[in-house]
Amino acid sequence: MNFRPLDFSDLPLVHKWLNTSHVKRWYSKKAMSYEETYAKYKPYILKKNGIDGFVAWYHDTPIGYVQYFPATSFYKLNTLKHPKLKKAAGLDMFIGEELYLGRGLSRKLIQSFLSTVVAHEYSYCVVDPEVDNLIAKKAYMGVCFKKIDKVHTCEGETHEIFMSPLLRKFVNQVRQDTKKSHPTNKRKLILKNV
Ligand SMILES: CC(C)(COP(=O)(O)OP(=O)(O)OC[C@H]1O[C@@H](n2cnc3c(N)ncnc32)[C@H](O)[C@@H]1OP(=O)(O)O)[C@@H](O)C(=O)NCCC(=O)NCCS
Repeated sequence: MNFRPLDFSDLPLVHKWLNTSHVKRWYSKKAMSYEETYAKYKPYILKKNGIDGFVAWYHDTPIGYVQYFPATSFYKLNTLKHPKLKKAAGLDMFIGEELYLGRGLSRKLIQSFLSTVVAHEYSYCVVDPEVDNLIAKKAYMGVCFKKIDKVHTCEGETHEIFMSPLLRKFVNQVRQDTKKSHPTNKRKLILKNV
């Protein structure tokens, strides 16, 4: 798995993904026109809102989207007073390519993104799946996220907040596993970390 910063050329694909039924249900929450997609992601691409977006590539195929940002600026966490939040990144993600769902790739995506991108800036990561999003919750718990709280949004949704430490030991282990399974990934990891 590797990650390329979101670019304008990715937006037609992101637009398609945002309108697939599972992404719409748990992520985009409504049908999105291409114009809406462009307007939403333009500031991400231009790095104007503190959210860094990436397309996740599995071998040579773009399969999903992942973004991270300072957890303290995340509106849903405003009510949280967790002492580790200042050192935490928030993370959102989806696998948009339906052919790649249900293959256990979410764990690879999360672990790889945390170890190769997020862990260089943050010591913890928080995520906020909806309470009924059982697949996402399983995916996060499968990579050591632990529930720390529950929040109710003004849209009437209930989200659970999960946190994981980004331990150096864990990061190194993931790097070794990645190198073992994909020997050519070493170069990609170095490039990604620039
Ligand atoms: C969340 C998401 C990335 C998970 O990826 P996925 O390919 O569907 O799931 P995976 O194959 O990686 O499996 C993750 C876990 O869910 C389970 N799972 C997968 N599909 C399932 C299904 N249809 N029913 C029940 N459990 C399922 C797997 O068994 C695994 O759990 P386990 O490790 O305890 O066995 C993907 O479903 C998605 O993009 N969803 C929409 C957006 C979203 O919810 N994003 C998260 C917002 S916080």
